[in-house]
Amino acid sequence: MTNNLTVIVLAAGGGTRMRSKTPKVLHPVCGRSMVGHVLHAVRAVEPRQVVAVVGHQRELVAPHVEEQLPGVVLAVQEDQLGTGHAVRVAVEAAGGIGAGTVLVAYGDTPLLEGESLRAFTAEHEAAERAVSILSGIVPEPFGYGRVVRDGDGDVVAIVEEKDATPEQREIREINSGILAFDAAFLAEALPRIGNDNAKGEYYLTDCVQLARDAGLTVGAYPLEDVLQTEGANDRAQLADLGREMNRRIVTRWMRAGVTVMDPATTWIDSEVELAQDVTILPGTQLLGATVVGEDAVVGPDTTLEDCEVGAGAQVVRTHGQLAVVGDGANVGPFAYLRPGTRLGEGGKIGTFVETKNADLAPGAKVPHLSYVGDATIGEGTNIGAGTIFANYDGVAKHRTTVGRQARTGSNNTFVAPVTVGDGAGTGAGTVVRDDVPAGALAVSAGPQRNLEGWTLRRRAGTAQAAAAEAAGDPAHKTSQDDGDGVGGTPSAGAES
Ligand code: UD1
Ligand code: CA
Repeated sequence: MTNNLTVIVLAAGGGTRMRSKTPKVLHPVCGRSMVGHVLHAVRAVEPRQVVAVVGHQRELVAPHVEEQLPGVVLAVQEDQLGTGHAVRVAVEAAGGIGAGTVLVAYGDTPLLEGESLRAFTAEHEAAERAVSILSGIVPEPFGYGRVVRDGDGDVVAIVEEKDATPEQREIREINSGILAFDAAFLAEALPRIGNDNAKGEYYLTDCVQLARDAGLTVGAYPLEDVLQTEGANDRAQLADLGREMNRRIVTRWMRAGVTVMDPATTWIDSEVELAQDVTILPGTQLLGATVVGEDAVVGPDTTLEDCEVGAGAQVVRTHGQLAVVGDGANVGPFAYLRPGTRLGEGGKIGTFVETKNADLAPGAKVPHLSYVGDATIGEGTNIGAGTIFANYDGVAKHRTTVGRQARTGSNNTFVAPVTVGDGAGTGAGTVVRDDVPAGALAVSAGPQRNLEGWTLRRRAGTAQAAAAEAAGDPAHKTSQDDGDGVGGTPSAGAES
């Protein structure tokens, strides 16, 4: 293939049927915008230059296109006067195109693949045509430009729906919209395209007729996988194409050695990376730049966005964003991993645990019912059930550091900033406000007092009192003190 290839991507149209404040080509499909998918395919053919034609909402479309493909040439088409006009604007913006091949594609065909563009361009160049049409045979050609062939089967024209005769409307070979041109021919044909047609637009497709009239070769190359050139015009089509792309992605991963128990409820974004022997259970979404290592099991009912899951890890019924789960680690069921969570090898973030900016060293465990915000937890440390890392004092966030091999009790509160040393411990219900030295046991709850007989005195006539009575409440006789502790002594309730 020549390296003298220019690709023009048309993305100036309004996309009114999307009924959206977001420009059509920016709507995402499997985690990437529609135009992002097209540019991804375009990049695979290694063009010398890419020109994107923007118009409607270009203040949003242009920066996005530049971000997706740095170095792209932007052409502004103020009024959308037709595809022929759009390509003319593109050629002007590029300062002319010289010799070589020009490929024209649309910005709203997310399933388009680089390999198809490569094969089409190669075929066009090998055949030395002035114009090649990437066509498709479809059951419902309504709305498309039809590829008209003569008695010998040679392509003579593309006729748009509105300009077609009833006989031409019967033709099921359609123009996908993707066209390849000899650059020199295109340059001299563009100014000759008129707008004397049903829509009053400058049709790029008129180039076919112009080439024929000049005695040049034209031809059509049918793409079997017609969905690759299908555009999404409304949100129903967007969902259809999204489901189809997901089906393709899931199938690709299964072929690469990933077990997917239920492809229909498994959603995998384009940029996700999965290792061999990963297992994905039903109801799982792997989004963004998520990476999952060998033998890991993810799901059921799990959403991971931009997460990294290590080899052999298990992530069950979890919602995670920008989190890292180490090799062999365990997460869930019902865990919420927020950005900045890093769980070390063999560690555990268990049931009903929320974490954020939390760094858990290898083997560290937070098994139950906890909030871990802005924390560093050392190797092999176990955090008791129902622990809150109180990281926010109402003004600023602070960090808690727990050393290695610590054992903290249930229902603790770590009031940050605070540090717990290596091998330290805390009693159940401790509110840790001050640093705990290595090896120390911190307890903050006061000594327990039992106010004997309290139930019978204060809850007489209730089921609770009946139960206490039946058990033979030892403090039956009681004192004058009513025993609720208010105004009493720590030994209130004892016999006087
Ligand atoms: C076009 C083709 C038709 C083909 C169909 C495939 C022409 C004349 N017709 O018809 O043969 O079967 O696509 O979908 O080319 N655009 C601009 N600027 C414009 C006009 C269009 O950037 O002035 C962009 C649109 O944003 C869109 C694409 O070009 O992405 C196609 O434009 P559209 O008006 O939808 O063309 P169709 O009538 O569908
Ligand atoms: Ca269209």
